[in-house]
Amino acid sequence: MKKQSLIYISNWKMAMPYEQAIEFIKSNSHEIQNFFNANTSIIVCPSFVALVPLIQLSRDTVFMGAQDCSAYERGSFTGQVSAKDLSEIGVRYCIVGHSERRTLCHETDSEVAQKVEQLIKVGLTPIICVGETLQEREAGITTIILGDQLLPIFEVLKKHAEKTAIIAYEPIWAIGTGQIPTNQEIEMVFEFIISSAEKHGLKDCLKLVYGGSVNEYNAQKLKKIPLLDGFLIGSASLDFQKLKKIVSC
Ligand code: PGA
Repeated sequence: MKKQSLIYISNWKMAMPYEQAIEFIKSNSHEIQNFFNANTSIIVCPSFVALVPLIQLSRDTVFMGAQDCSAYERGSFTGQVSAKDLSEIGVRYCIVGHSERRTLCHETDSEVAQKVEQLIKVGLTPIICVGETLQEREAGITTIILGDQLLPIFEVLKKHAEKTAIIAYEPIWAIGTGQIPTNQEIEMVFEFIISSAEKHGLKDCLKLVYGGSVNEYNAQKLKKIPLLDGFLIGSASLDFQKLKKIVSC
């Protein structure tokens, strides 16, 4: 059964050029305001440099999210951006632990958890990506992998009274490939995440989204997943018409 409100997180990665990012919000923010109802949250995650102008342009029609943050509060970390600075410019959400960062930047589960801690401390909502590789899936160890990724996150969340977090289940083999798990497979993973969270007393502060090759053709079917709170969308979110179809189907 479809839940009433869904979150649509657009992960623009490094695929959206700066000028096009500005144009995307300039030309569509009015439509976003009229088109999307109160039960729909749109979170756009552009590159760091586009955050400030997009926050100014969007005037609360769209929430802004960063694609990453530092695991540290402040200090000599060349090239990194602190969660505090993100919150001060008006960012509300931040993706952490995306598989591209885990793979290309060798981020570990405990670093991802440190980032979650930084975000929670300054009142930002982390969007925490977890997911298994194809080999792990074929070896039947998906929930073991997800359990390892989630444990340090849950340990952090447990320590904080005020928190909300979005867990994005993104099977690595589904990202950018056009392949997606069945609704039943996603549902089983969501149930696993909920039951693990419950063991840590965390169920009510979590939202569950699915990511990996979500598009205007498969969104309607995916919306039938009972525990689904929304989507993390990569390439399809670069095109406003596609995003609109995903939201409205
Ligand atoms: P995709 O990317 O929708 O292009 O598969 C999703 C993601 O990596 O967050």
